[in-house]
Amino acid sequence: MKRVVVFFGKGGSNFLNLIKKENNYKIIAGITNRADSDALKEKDLPPILISSDFNEILGYLKNLNPDLIVLAGFMKIVPSFIINEFKGKIINLHPSILPNFKGLNADKLSFETKKACGITIHFASEELDSGDIILQYHINPYKFKTYEEYHRELKKAEWTFLPDVVERINL
Ligand code: GRF
Repeated sequence: MKRVVVFFGKGGSNFLNLIKKENNYKIIAGITNRADSDALKEKDLPPILISSDFNEILGYLKNLNPDLIVLAGFMKIVPSFIINEFKGKIINLHPSILPNFKGLNADKLSFETKKACGITIHFASEELDSGDIILQYHINPYKFKTYEEYHRELKKAEWTFLPDVVERINL
């Protein structure tokens, strides 16, 4: 059984979805810097560390020693001392076809420009939104009239493919 820790942010829908779809993996903990995260309203959650202190986060992770760490909407740059400590064991979900639109608002920018629309799941490296790509799923932006419609489709793709990768990844 893969033991997985998930970093999440204000929404946390991917965190909840990963718990819902647990199969050959177990979400043993969550980490968020957002005490106001919507996900925290749910019942029956695994233990969650709420912290913005990366030294505290490192200690917590070392203690848990997970097989896999998933960055799913944690909107802070994870420092290299954490990336390096768990090299090859951290994956990141990003809402565009990388290397296009790294950083914030990637989903909006890709939809507005009709370029690189979709999601990327990749190994995290020290550089933001870089590292070996595991999966990319393209979405045709011309099928959607508004950004909201596009965004709904993007979330569906995230909720389908992130658990799939977590289940299938060989570490
Ligand atoms: C996702 O679109 C992810 O790709 C991005 O942040 C979003 C998080 O969504 N980095 P949620 O909080 O899991 O709903």
